[in-house]
Amino acid sequence: MSEFEGRSVLVTGAARGIGRATALHFAERGADVAANDLDGDGLAELGREIEALGRRALAVPGNVGVEEDARRIVDTSVAELGRLDVLVNNAGVWIIKSLEETSAEEWDRQLDTNLRAAYLLSRRAIPALRESDAACIVNIASIAGLRFTVPHIAYAASKAGVIALTRDLAVELGPDRIRVNAVAPGPIDTQGLLDSLGELDRQSAEQRYLLGRMGRAEDIANAVVFLASGRASYVTGATLPVTGGAELAVRPLF
Ligand SMILES: NC(=O)c1ccc[n+]([C@@H]2O[C@H](COP(=O)([O-])OP(=O)(O)OC[C@H]3O[C@@H](n4cnc5c(N)ncnc54)[C@H](O)[C@@H]3O)[C@@H](O)[C@H]2O)c1
Repeated sequence: MSEFEGRSVLVTGAARGIGRATALHFAERGADVAANDLDGDGLAELGREIEALGRRALAVPGNVGVEEDARRIVDTSVAELGRLDVLVNNAGVWIIKSLEETSAEEWDRQLDTNLRAAYLLSRRAIPALRESDAACIVNIASIAGLRFTVPHIAYAASKAGVIALTRDLAVELGPDRIRVNAVAPGPIDTQGLLDSLGELDRQSAEQRYLLGRMGRAEDIANAVVFLASGRASYVTGATLPVTGGAELAVRPLF
C-alpha cells in the first residue's frame, strides 16, 4: 500500500514551482490532493497530471491571504475529499526591496500571503485535522527567516514569522497529536526565484553553492513529504533547512 493511500492533502500555491512538485510527490505516494493557487489554468494542468496517477485532484482557486477565500479553500477541500490529513502552506510572494523602498501595500501583500495565510488556513483546518490519526501541517519558510540573504525585509520578516508560528502552533496542537513543522528552503530554481532575481548565471553555480548546484523544487517536495510521513512521527515544531548548505557559506548567495 502506498504511503499516503487514503489520505488527503491540501497544498497552497500549487500551480507551479515548489507547490506543484509537492502536490505531485504526494499524489505519487497515494494521496488525493486539493490544490490551491491564483492561477486556475495551472491548477487544471496539475489536476490532469494527478488524475493520470490515479488519484483524486481538486482545484480550489483563491487568494490564501483573504479570510473568505481561506475559509472556502479549506471547507471545499474537506467537503469534496471527505477528510484532511496534511496541510501544506506553500503559497508565497517575494519582493526584493529594502525597508525604505517597500511600500505599505507591498509589505501587506508579502505578510498576508506568506504569514497571515498560514494562520488563516491552519486555524480553519484544525477541526478536520483533529479527525485524522496522522495529521500534520508543513509550512514553507525560507533561509531568509533564519539569516540575512538579500535586502528583502518584508519577506524576511514574513518567513521569520512562519518559523515562530510553526513552533508555537506545534505546542498548541501537540495535545491533539497534530504535528506542525516547517521547511526552510535555500535558493531553489523556480519561476518565482527567476522572476524576482532575473536570469541567473548558472555557469558559476558551482562556486556559489556548496553542493555544486542550485536547489530543485523536488528537493523541497521530498523534505515536505518526509515531514508529513510516519517516518517523522516524532518530529514537531521543527524547521528543517533544505539549502544545500547555503546558510553555512560566508560568500554571497547571489
Ligand atoms: N524558490 C526559492 O528559492 C525559495 C526559497 C525559499 C523559500 N521559498 C518559498 O517557497 C514557496 C514557493 O516558492 P516558489 O519558488 O515555488 O514560488 P513560485 O512563484 O514559483 O510559485 C508560487 C505559487 O504561489 C501562487 N500564489 C502567490 N500568491 C498567492 C496567493 N495569494 N494565493 C494563492 N496562491 C498564490 C503563485 O500563483 C504561484 O503559482 C514560497 O513560500 C517561497 O517563499 C522559495
